[in-house]
Amino acid sequence: MKARVAILISGRGSNMAALIAAARAPDYPAEIALVLSNRADAGGLALAAAAGVPVAVVESRGRPREAFEAELQAVLEARRIGLVALAGFMRVLTEGFVRAWEGRMLNIHPSLLPAFKGLDTHRRALEAGVRLHGCTVHLVSPGVDEGPILAQAAVPVLAEDDEAALAARVLAEEHRLYPAALAWLAAGRVRLEGGRARVEAEGASGVLANPLPGPAALSTQPPRD
Ligand code: GAR
Repeated sequence: MKARVAILISGRGSNMAALIAAARAPDYPAEIALVLSNRADAGGLALAAAAGVPVAVVESRGRPREAFEAELQAVLEARRIGLVALAGFMRVLTEGFVRAWEGRMLNIHPSLLPAFKGLDTHRRALEAGVRLHGCTVHLVSPGVDEGPILAQAAVPVLAEDDEAALAARVLAEEHRLYPAALAWLAAGRVRLEGGRARVEAEGASGVLANPLPGPAALSTQPPRD
């Protein structure tokens, strides 16, 4: 039987849409049983409804965390949800809620964790001058943007990049990485060993470097005058 997944969103829902699209494949090991937003005005709700996925809103504004999470938990149980995928869900969850879903809740974050936890990751990556940036899918542990890493994708940071260009390059990778990572978890291909996640999947190969250290960069050049 396929794992029943709830996707939690707060905004436009482009990662949600990528997960819904991937889950249409007959051999995908999970079905998207619910899209839930903590904001009634999240753009992703309309996309999900148009795709025929059940949607729900549990409003988080102006109420205590415990009341919000109790209702959230009740909705997830009523829909017999087995896995939760946070996709641009911008509400910090309490330790109690996170523990209840430990090993069954994923998040995608737009940086190569543990670098740039929190907000404004692309601006901060540009300010730091990193040459490689990217995204991470991880199991959720208590602590913001923390938990065992399942997968990462790296992109180069180019000299002419602004925040929007870099965000778009990372987002394209998010849309490829998240469906793959959710499938691994749903298919039982993720094991926790000593606080780290081991994934049964194709291994990565080669070296990712930017700029590329080609032969010219390695040879010693006589000084030019
Ligand atoms: C995505 O870039 C996601 O990685 C990020 O929010 C964006 C949501 O976009 N998540 C976080 O920053 C969580 N810490 P989307 O609604 O189009 O998927």
